[in-house]
Amino acid sequence: MTIESGTAAGNGRTALVVGATGIAGSALVDTLVGAGWGVLALSRRPGPERAGVKWLSADLTSASSLAAALAPENPSHVFFTAWSRRATEEENIAVNAGMLRDLLAALRGKDVAHVALMTGLKHYLGPFEAYAAGEMPDTPFHEEEPRLPVRNFYYAQEDELWAAAGEQGFTWSVHRAHTVIGHAVGNAMNMGLTLAAQATLCRDSGEPFVFPGSETQWNGLTDMTDAGLLAEHMVWASTTPVAANEAFNIVNGDVFRWRWMWPKLAAYFGVEWEGYQGKPRPLEQSMAGREDQWRRIAGENNLSEPDLGRVASWWHTDGDLGRNIEVVTDMGKSRDAGFTGYRRTLDAFTALFDRYRADRLVP
Ligand SMILES: NC(=O)c1ccc[n+]([C@@H]2O[C@H](COP(=O)([O-])OP(=O)(O)OC[C@H]3O[C@@H](n4cnc5c(N)ncnc54)[C@H](OP(=O)(O)O)[C@@H]3O)[C@@H](O)[C@H]2O)c1
Repeated sequence: MTIESGTAAGNGRTALVVGATGIAGSALVDTLVGAGWGVLALSRRPGPERAGVKWLSADLTSASSLAAALAPENPSHVFFTAWSRRATEEENIAVNAGMLRDLLAALRGKDVAHVALMTGLKHYLGPFEAYAAGEMPDTPFHEEEPRLPVRNFYYAQEDELWAAAGEQGFTWSVHRAHTVIGHAVGNAMNMGLTLAAQATLCRDSGEPFVFPGSETQWNGLTDMTDAGLLAEHMVWASTTPVAANEAFNIVNGDVFRWRWMWPKLAAYFGVEWEGYQGKPRPLEQSMAGREDQWRRIAGENNLSEPDLGRVASWWHTDGDLGRNIEVVTDMGKSRDAGFTGYRRTLDAFTALFDRYRADRLVP
């Protein structure tokens, strides 16, 4: 599909990507640069220098830091993909809704046309502390489902977005992704790199690549979100009038069963595998204490990240694959509105693993 392009200096379309070094944000930077946009990229630590990208270092938890970084800038489109993981949902709400509120406040009086907010399926599943535990809508999840009767930082962020849109006059979109696979290092939730690290460690020590999750996930249907497709979706909604002021699910468009996918991922890495065998076998336990092994593998193979803690997010992959419910997501609303983007999830995995290898993240 085509994405309308623009440049900061040319037609006035400048993207502000918030959380630009993250798994979703870095895919957005790639997509926008590829389509010729001018990009302002915001995070605390800057990413790599590249043509068309201006890095802004700011702390979203500090209104004065945001005001200083954004004072000279005038973005036309904002893509909010940052988050900060906290111990409780009440803290998640306070911090993550606060970051969005303060970011939008720092843009008051500027010419922002659209703000796209990335959230996820916890909108339907519930927050981490009540994850897939209470009442849930039936799958596949549809956008028009009423909110769950529990507090959730995604709901608080939506409320902040809508309040600022009403006051400041921009249009908005919300993008509810399933598990995202993409290219980022040192971020909180990254199933692609986590599975690549697990397979690498298992191959090194001659162990099988063990499916860590539940029987339901092993046998049931599920889906996934490629970070590049998510970026296309966010840019599409930001530049397509019929998509304005709507919330959309965003997944790859195929469904699969882990019992079908797992042997294919094992084959890619050339490692033996084991499926579900009677109970979940969480990575947080089976992969504990492997830091020295990873450091050695990194040294032997000239890898770019010797710190396993910045490569793997065991807790998150355990949570996703350990769910005792089927999770599939309806894409009909986006398709009706004209979004035809699509990925085969197996191809998304192998393309991503190829990229990890090229960037020396895995051998
Ligand atoms: N990852 C997934 O599988 C997934 C799936 C569905 C939904 N989601 C949701 O998508 C949203 C984004 O998650 P993600 O996984 O894409 O995030 P991520 O990869 O962890 O990236 C977070 C980004 O935010 C920046 N950031 C964090 N705290 C900041 C602060 N105080 N000031 C400035 N920048 C800050 C980080 O850079 P610095 O640390 O350098 O500041 C980084 O660029 C979250 O709401 C998440 O729940 C994620």
